[in-house]
Order: sequence, then C-alpha cells, then structure tokens
Amino acid sequence: MTTLKEIYFEQPVGKSGHPGNTDKETHHSYISGFYEEAFKEYKNKDDLQILEIGIAHGGSINLWLQYFDDVYITGVDLFLNEGIVKDANRFMYHERVNLVKKSGTDKEYIDTLKDDFYDIIIDDGSHKIGDQVLSLKYMYSKVKKGGLYIIEDIESIEATKQLEFQEGWVKLDLNKDRVEQNKKRNRYDNIIMYWKK
Ligand SMILES: C[S@@+](CC[C@H](N)C(=O)[O-])C[C@H]1O[C@@H](n2cnc3c(N)ncnc32)[C@H](O)[C@@H]1O
Repeated sequence: MTTLKEIYFEQPVGKSGHPGNTDKETHHSYISGFYEEAFKEYKNKDDLQILEIGIAHGGSINLWLQYFDDVYITGVDLFLNEGIVKDANRFMYHERVNLVKKSGTDKEYIDTLKDDFYDIIIDDGSHKIGDQVLSLKYMYSKVKKGGLYIIEDIESIEATKQLEFQEGWVKLDLNKDRVEQNKKRNRYDNIIMYWKK
C-alpha cells in the first residue's frame, strides 16, 4: 500500500503544487504524527468526500488525489485566484476537485452544504483561533458518522480550550517532537485537534 510519506517524499519537492509543496510535513509533523495512521481506514473507500479550508499552492489537494483511491475534494479558500493560490488554478477543471472562493467562516456558504456528507473536513485556513471556532461551529454537522473533523496549526495549548465546546475532541501537541526546530523558527503552532464522529 502506498503511504502518504512515500507520495510526499518520493517526488521532487519544491515544485509548485507538488504534494511535497504542502507544509504538512516540512514545517509540521502532521503526516508522520497524525495523517498516516488516521487516513488509512479511508484510503480505499468509494466516493470519499473531503473538504479542506485553505488551498495555498494546491499541495495538499495533490497529495489527497494521489493517496486516496476514489476521492472528491472541495477546496475552500478566501484568496482563490490571488497570490500563491493562483498555483492551484490547474485544479479548477479537475473532475474530482471543486474550488470555492469563500471564507471558511462564511455561514451563508456553509449553510448551503449538505449535513452528514463529508468523510473528512480539514481546517488549514487562517489558523486564527476565532476563525477555527466559527468553522467548527458551522461545519461540524457536515461530517458524516465515522468521519473526521481536523483543525491544524492551533496557536497554543491555551487556545485549544476554546474548541472544547464540541465534545469528543482529541489534542495532539506535536511541538513536543519539534522543540529545537520550533525554538529556531519561533513557532509553536504544531498543534492539531480532531474529532472522530
Ligand atoms: C497554510 S495555507 C494552506 C495549505 C494547504 N492546505 C496545504 O497543506 O498545502 C493557508 C491557506 O488558507 C487561506 N485562507 C486564509 N484565511 C482564510 C479564510 N478565512 N478562509 C479560507 N481560506 C483562508 C490562505 O489563502 C492560504 O491559501
């Protein structure tokens, strides 16, 4: 079985929109620390539905497309077609990708999405705790039973408390593995929370 790490590392990194272009393992340790294990059970699922808030170059979209057997991806980004997010435009007409220029906190938009529909929702958008709280409030009902809701890059352990209103949370403080690196880069945002419905 191909692993996420194989896809991530076995291809030339640095090319825009390449799976290695996502920062999920270079700046963070999310693939080895969480996704590899958590996504195994979804890999061969038919008609898997993922929604990710935050597209950037399209690196993670490319990674999911290569890893899952039968996946459809909704990518939501407030800055679609602007700056670095322009790189993701090549997925604009991809039959398995739907790109949407909206904020991950836009309730009016989120209300148009079906309840109990997505297998996986990932919040990798603004990384502001206020936005993460709103997206969780509005989007949690969109995840189907057995699915996952994941928030990346929570700014601090203190901030995770604001997300505890939604029951069933699990916290992963991957900073522990990266103390030296974080000190150097002065970032402490290697914290994930997730909910398995
Ligand atoms: C860290 S990048 C996403 C990286 C991508 N998920 C990956 O792993 O390759 C964050 C993205 O979130 C977008 N963003 C920032 N604020 C947002 C918001 N309120 N709603 C939706 N997207 C937002 C930015 O334009 C940027 O493209």
